[in-house]
Amino acid sequence: MKVYIDENIKKMERIFPMQGRYDYKRYDMNENPEGLPKTFVDNVLKEITPEFLSIYPEPDKFLIKYASFLGEGVKYENLLTTNGSDTAIRYVLQTFGEKGKDVVTVAPSFEMYWVNCMLLGLNHVPVQYEEDWTIDINKLLNAITENTRIVVLLNPNNPVGNVYTEDELEKVIEKTKKVGAIVIIDEAYHYFYDKTFLKYALEEENVILLRTFSKLMSLAACRLGVIISNPDLIHYVKNLRLTFDVNSIALLFAERLIDNPEVIEDLIKSEKDGKKYMLEELEKNDYWCRDCKGNFVFIKPKHDAKDISDRLEKEKKILVHPYSKGILKDYIRVSVGSVDAMKIFLDAFFEIDGDK
Ligand SMILES: Cc1ncc(COP(=O)(O)O)c(C=O)c1O
Repeated sequence: MKVYIDENIKKMERIFPMQGRYDYKRYDMNENPEGLPKTFVDNVLKEITPEFLSIYPEPDKFLIKYASFLGEGVKYENLLTTNGSDTAIRYVLQTFGEKGKDVVTVAPSFEMYWVNCMLLGLNHVPVQYEEDWTIDINKLLNAITENTRIVVLLNPNNPVGNVYTEDELEKVIEKTKKVGAIVIIDEAYHYFYDKTFLKYALEEENVILLRTFSKLMSLAACRLGVIISNPDLIHYVKNLRLTFDVNSIALLFAERLIDNPEVIEDLIKSEKDGKKYMLEELEKNDYWCRDCKGNFVFIKPKHDAKDISDRLEKEKKILVHPYSKGILKDYIRVSVGSVDAMKIFLDAFFEIDGDK
């Protein structure tokens, strides 16, 4: 039997993340390697009753709280919850992308932008990094044309870890306004980098900002993202959204994090201390490393990056992200956690890379 399958879906070849990662020390996907404090988790779990689980999710209570948590004049009308930023990316590209028209991103960048472009039939226009890991903002501006419907900026970018200045963002916004395009600012790594472009999402007519609870907030398993923009753009994404795409457990955990800001402060401090410790140790041992603005660093091992990554996985049950092409070739990306988490990684890394 021949059934109809959308051509873009048929052509797609997806590679999904490895399974069975619970058995490993995880420094490969920019999660918190250790997670939230156990007492905090235990206390939240006590609130989950049979009645709680029987009721469809209600995001409004969380959203009202999150609006005042963000401050800066953010209102409920500026916000929409999603099932992780992953879903936010799909929603925004689907709402504001036009088949055959351009979505401009830097490259390399987070792969779900180009995956969604392919699935939705949008034309991905990648603007390559320079050899010195910088972006030439004029190249980015020149890539924005009458055909552009969306420009994506990750601030900081994953994987390269660079950030944009207000001046650069304002130039991008100005150009997109001339051609009638949306600007997506993905702030998945906010809190590791404390500057934000939130005000542009509130004040401009064409700017959408994405946040996630998967990174600093350490809730990757729960799947919670938030889209922040002006009420008009939020309204159109709401028309598209699935009615119950965000689950109550994610909303409950996120609410309790907001109720306990000291937990968030501790997470920020722990990662900052861990990163400082790791960079100092690497420098003492004569390693080239790049302090990215997110919760990750790039290290150039003395031996082949893929080999080192494979040996860490097999011999030490430690996962890192190796790169084999482009400007990141020969490097591994390592997610940062507490000093203790970094000690575990560094002991294994120095032993394996010092070997041979
Ligand atoms: C820049 C960026 N955006 C979005 C995501 C997806 O996050 P989520 O877990 O909220 O889907 C990631 C995950 O690594 C990311 O690096």
